[in-house]
Amino acid sequence: MSVNRRFILQRRPNGMPVAEDFELISEALPELADGQFLIRNHYASLDPAMRGWMDDAPSYMPPIPLGDPVRASTVGEVVASKTPDFPVGQWVSGLNAIEEYSISMAGGFSAPIDPSIVPSPTNFLSVLGAVGMTAYFGYREVCKPQAGDVVLVTGAAGAVGSLVGQIARLMGASKVIGIAGGPEKCRRLTDRYGFDTAIDYRGKSVDQLSAEIAAAAPQGVNIIFENVGGDILDAGLNNLAMYARIGLCGLISEYNNSGEKTGARNVWQLIVKRATMQGLLVADYIPQFGEGIAAMAGWLRDGKLVFDEHIDDGIDNALPAFLRLFSGSNDGKMVLKLA
Ligand SMILES: NC(=O)c1ccc[n+]([C@@H]2O[C@H](COP(=O)([O-])OP(=O)(O)OC[C@H]3O[C@@H](n4cnc5c(N)ncnc54)[C@H](OP(=O)(O)O)[C@@H]3O)[C@@H](O)[C@H]2O)c1
Repeated sequence: MSVNRRFILQRRPNGMPVAEDFELISEALPELADGQFLIRNHYASLDPAMRGWMDDAPSYMPPIPLGDPVRASTVGEVVASKTPDFPVGQWVSGLNAIEEYSISMAGGFSAPIDPSIVPSPTNFLSVLGAVGMTAYFGYREVCKPQAGDVVLVTGAAGAVGSLVGQIARLMGASKVIGIAGGPEKCRRLTDRYGFDTAIDYRGKSVDQLSAEIAAAAPQGVNIIFENVGGDILDAGLNNLAMYARIGLCGLISEYNNSGEKTGARNVWQLIVKRATMQGLLVADYIPQFGEGIAAMAGWLRDGKLVFDEHIDDGIDNALPAFLRLFSGSNDGKMVLKLA
């Protein structure tokens, strides 16, 4: 327990991250100071947002400093402690880094969790973690659902999107349409997550995608939960119902664009349809997480919600596991096993 392996950001990626942007180092663990505790990280969450944190660009969080381990949410167990608030054996979840051990302190970014209430502690990184809370609060608070809404979810087979599709139904949507990459993911949308219609975006132009959305929603869509941006957002904007609400959750198609950002080109449709597009950030809802976790846990218990996790093994696989998010080769919430 004296050596810590850490996945370090040593250069800012230009476009898609490559091996040379990172270094896996082994470091001696420092002595704990009073008030600190040592976490053995068992799992790290791999999230698209981490790509933005690697850039030196204005954001809702400072960039990861070069030479620091890559920031990530983790779940783990306290293995040494100099605070009575976090005794040895306590499980915690919080914003740490891709490293085998993290040092934290009471009042910091780690919160106690009880892994005995879930099938796997990884659930605190997926359905009961930030991903689940993004889907729950993003849909409820930003998309402002009303009974009978026709809902379009992009990035629909992913961690957030697959939950949004199911939550939309639970909150009264009359029709839920999902866009995802490839026939296998589209099959999962309808067969496993209960979407009414699945649209495969791969190899299609904005016009083709627009036509497929129009065929599924002839009166337009009342809500778009947007995870992707680019052409997919443009196609959605072409199919708005009057007073539609667009929850802008993510723009994953643009995160590795090193050149000019493409942006949404059909924003004129917001005027035509008097529609609202609002960004959302899950961190805004931290004070309400207890309520969101209770709602999600209730639906899980009642068999009304399913979710998937994609777990890759070992800190040596941090980069290929992270890159799955951008190739679409993750089947569910992307998690890295560290212990
Ligand atoms: N605002 C917030 O607070 C917040 C919080 C969490 C997540 N998010 C955002 O939510 C979105 C989904 O995140 P997640 O954690 O649930 O990841 P995820 O959907 O599980 O994985 C990412 C998926 O995005 C799709 N994708 C990747 N590159 C793409 C491209 N160029 N064009 C179209 N689709 C592409 C792939 O699915 P296909 O195989 O279908 O292409 C991939 O599997 C991201 O944009 C993320 O930044 C926002």
